[in-house]
Amino acid sequence: MKNIKKIIIVFTIIIVSVVLIRYVYNYSNNSNIGYKGSLPKVGAAIYKYDDEFMSYIRNSMEDASYGKIALIMNDSQNDENIQLMQIDEMISKGVCALAINLVNPKAAQIVIDKAKAWDLPVIFFNKEPDASVLNSYNKAWFVGTDSKESGILQGKMIVDLWNQNKSKWDKNHDGKISYVLLKGEPGHPDAKARSKYALDEIRKAGIPVEKLDEATAMWDAAKAKEKMDGWISKYNNKIEFVISNNDVMALGAIDSLEKNGYLSGNKFIPVVGIDAIPDAIKKIKEGKMVGTILNDANIQGKAIIDLVTNAAKGKNVFNGTSWRGNSDKSVRIHYVIIIKDNIDEAEQAYK
Ligand code: BGC
Repeated sequence: MKNIKKIIIVFTIIIVSVVLIRYVYNYSNNSNIGYKGSLPKVGAAIYKYDDEFMSYIRNSMEDASYGKIALIMNDSQNDENIQLMQIDEMISKGVCALAINLVNPKAAQIVIDKAKAWDLPVIFFNKEPDASVLNSYNKAWFVGTDSKESGILQGKMIVDLWNQNKSKWDKNHDGKISYVLLKGEPGHPDAKARSKYALDEIRKAGIPVEKLDEATAMWDAAKAKEKMDGWISKYNNKIEFVISNNDVMALGAIDSLEKNGYLSGNKFIPVVGIDAIPDAIKKIKEGKMVGTILNDANIQGKAIIDLVTNAAKGKNVFNGTSWRGNSDKSVRIHYVIIIKDNIDEAEQAYK
C-alpha cells in the first residue's frame, strides 16, 4: 500500500513537472515576441506585388533575409488603407523593425507615427519620403536611388543615340526630337524627376525637342500600350522618339508599335526605358529597343535587408556593412546606362 502511494506521488510529480516545463517554455517563447526562434522578426510591405520591378526587389530581399531575420512580407495591393492595417498587424505580432515600400509617399508621416509609438526603426525603400518627414524620426532611413540621376542618364543616353542615328531617326529633318513621353504614377518621386531631367539634359546638349504628347501610364504595360495605340493613330509618322519612365511601359509601347507594323524594315521608332529588367534586355538584343538605365533591384534588396537586420537588433544600421550612408539618412544605389554594347552588365544584375 505504502509503495502504491509512493508510485502515485512520483507519477504526479512527473506529470506536474512536464506540464510546468511546457508552460514555462511556451511563456518564454511568447514573451520573447520580437523573435521567431533565434531570428528577429521584421515586417515588410511592398506597395503592390503586381509590379514587375518590385517583384525583383522582393525576391532579392527574401533571398538576403534567409538565416538573418524572420521576414513577414505583405502585398499592400496598391491600397494605402490596406498597407496601414498591415503595419498595425505586424506591430501587434511583435516585429522588431519595419521595411516599407509606401503605397502613397505622402503617408510616410503616418507610418513614422505608428513606428515611433513602439520605438520601432523603419527602413523606407523605393518610394522616397519627403526629407523633412525622414528627418523627424532618428530611427527612419531610406534605401533606393537618386531619382534625378536616372533622368539625367536617360537624357544623356538619348543625346548620344540621337547624334549617332540622326540621319535615320529625324524623319522630317528639322533637327528636333519629336517625342512622346510615358510617365509613371503621379506623385511618385521617380516619375517626376525622370520626366523633368531626361528632357532638360537633351535641351542642355543643344538638341531642340518637340513634345507631341505625354501621359501617365502608371508604370503599367497595358496602359502604356493603350496610350501608344492612340498616339500612333493620332500622330502617324511624326513620332521620332518614345521616352518612358520605366521599362514595363516601354515594353507596352513596343508591343503597340510592333502590332502597328513598326520596328521592322525601315519603319523604326527608337524606344528607351529605365530599370533594365530581363524582358527589356531581350528587346535591346533583338534591336526593338535602343536602351535603358539599370536600376539595380538585387543590390537594393540586399541593402534593405542589411540595414533592417541591424536596426532590428538595435545596432547602428551600417554596422558590419559596406553601404555608404548619406547625410540625408539614405543609401542610394547608382544607375547605369545600358545599351547593346554593355548589355552583360544588366544581365549580371538581374541574374
Ligand atoms: C521603377 C518602376 C516601378 C516603381 C515602383 C521605380 O523605381 O523604375 O519600374 O514601377 O519604382 O514604385
